[in-house]
Amino acid sequence: MVIDFSEKVVLVAGGTGGLGRAVSLAFLAHGARVAVTWRREDEFLALKNASAEGAHRLAGFQVNATDVREALNLADQILSRWNRLDVLVNAVGGYAGGIPLWELEPQVFERMLDLNLRATYALARAVAPSMMARKSGVIVNVASRAAWEHAAGASAYAASKAAAVALIDSLAADLAGTGVRVNSILPSIIDTEANRKAMPQADFSKWPKPEEIAEAVLLLASDAARVIHGAAIPVFGNR
Ligand SMILES: NC(=O)c1ccc[n+]([C@@H]2O[C@H](COP(=O)([O-])OP(=O)(O)OC[C@H]3O[C@@H](n4cnc5c(N)ncnc54)[C@H](OP(=O)(O)O)[C@@H]3O)[C@@H](O)[C@H]2O)c1
Repeated sequence: MVIDFSEKVVLVAGGTGGLGRAVSLAFLAHGARVAVTWRREDEFLALKNASAEGAHRLAGFQVNATDVREALNLADQILSRWNRLDVLVNAVGGYAGGIPLWELEPQVFERMLDLNLRATYALARAVAPSMMARKSGVIVNVASRAAWEHAAGASAYAASKAAAVALIDSLAADLAGTGVRVNSILPSIIDTEANRKAMPQADFSKWPKPEEIAEAVLLLASDAARVIHGAAIPVFGNR
């Protein structure tokens, strides 16, 4: 099986983050032209440095992905630059946990909905029409194991991720017969710098590496996964 993205244009929203960065680098390593959203320019520049000979195929856009107009504008800019958009990976998201619902502040609840649900809506809405017009495209939305397993203290996070999975499920039905595929992936704790800092006592060897999850994303985005549509796929391994 050969996974080759050299003809493809890929948008990795949140593509400078803990997981997104590994996804962006993996697509670049497989020949794709990659657009990422960034919020802090230093993170984009760090990604550019890390992408070595792929750097000329990398473009960064400062975007608030939760905003419908900004997401549409982003899709337009990518289409005018490269004339196509083959893959969207949405790795924008945020976590809030350890808070019982009665102590959950409204702004935290809203932030979870914004990052984990509204961004999914805004980005998918922005890219779907051009993909449908070309009768080809793939969307991979990063949800979470928490969409299925609703732990104490994580009501807003779990609800926002469960809603994102439902949104993508329904979108999969909308897209039946269009040639555009859409799936969710469900990571559990990933071996990111932020998680190592937050849980210094944990056994990091049990956590999937961002690069391992990126491989699953590339597979889903490739033609090798052309029969996978409307799935919510656990990517937390069994270590
Ligand atoms: N890490 C885990 O253990 C884990 C487990 C399960 C699921 N997930 C999911 O995996 C995805 C990626 O997680 P991660 O660990 O890579 O998180 P991360 O490092 O915080 O990455 C998220 C990225 O999204 C960006 N972002 C935040 N708000 C944005 C906005 N309004 N518009 C555009 N970009 C925005 C962040 O930028 P800034 O850095 O500037 O905020 C960051 O680059 C998320 O959906 C997360 O819920 C992660």
